[in-house]
Amino acid sequence: MTPKHFLKINDFTLDEFEYLFDRTHWIKNEFKQYRKYWPLTDRTLAMIFDKHSTRTRLSFEAGMCQLGGSAIYLSTRDTQLGRGESVEDAARVISRMVDIIMIRTFDHSIVERFANHSRVPVINGLTDEYHPCQIIGDIFTFIEHHGSIKGKTVAWIGDSNNVCNTWLQAAEVFDFNVHVSTPPGYEVEPERAGLYGTNHYEEFSCPHDAVKNADLVTTDVWTSMGFEDETEIRKNAFADFCVDAEMMAYAKPEALFMHCLPAHRGEEVTNEVLEGKQSVVWDEAENRLHVQKALMEYLLLGKI
Ligand code: CP
Ligand code: NVA
Repeated sequence: MTPKHFLKINDFTLDEFEYLFDRTHWIKNEFKQYRKYWPLTDRTLAMIFDKHSTRTRLSFEAGMCQLGGSAIYLSTRDTQLGRGESVEDAARVISRMVDIIMIRTFDHSIVERFANHSRVPVINGLTDEYHPCQIIGDIFTFIEHHGSIKGKTVAWIGDSNNVCNTWLQAAEVFDFNVHVSTPPGYEVEPERAGLYGTNHYEEFSCPHDAVKNADLVTTDVWTSMGFEDETEIRKNAFADFCVDAEMMAYAKPEALFMHCLPAHRGEEVTNEVLEGKQSVVWDEAENRLHVQKALMEYLLLGKI
């Protein structure tokens, strides 16, 4: 039987996300009450990292331990993957030894090739194109603060990167709108973003126009991992795309601010906004843990 993977947001239906968020809520609450929940005893997660991470590694590793299982960290540098073993062979071998696999890598085709040769579920822990675990954590956080995201407006300011692409895909699944404002030359590429012709986003050249009446304002670093050679060029190109208090004032007064982190204070966001009353970035980071526990439970046990 082909295992169920989570490589892109639209691998799951709205119904599955509703279930996942119900489970997240329950799992989070049990954990906060110090009640043990060990449905994954004896199960093992392998985490393969080709790029740096703080939140993703920690939330998956802690999450698996909290569910009664264990997690193994593999860096491509230390494994045979870094010495030319094919992704397909690695997938066949690793998936015979563990029960679930998370990968953070460069091109999205790598996780697809890995998943196609894996006997067990594969989770995308970030690729150059997508970061689905981030956006399910973000949407869960939005719902906790403001209820359903359906029909709401999310303003994305800055680079049309992996996190932006995933917001755009999520808008199609959850039926909300994204207002995107990027500098010229950094606009959304619909095909790379994996969009399928529905119209849930609008592009604005002026970031203030994009933020107007938004329910959520969000941004990310100007230079993502893998694009470091462009750092200086990007600093100039993105100079007018810093989310500051003046920009936040165009959004609804109750609008939230989110950032997947790590943040570069003074570049894509000011210290004032990141630390301000509308910022929910720490809840957002924590919720990665809870939502990914529900994700692993669902991928391994189905609806329980
Ligand atoms: N937001 C996020 O994925 O953070 P890390 O790069 O620290 O994992
Ligand atoms: N867009 C960023 C996200 C980091 C969590 C990157 O890919 O580096």
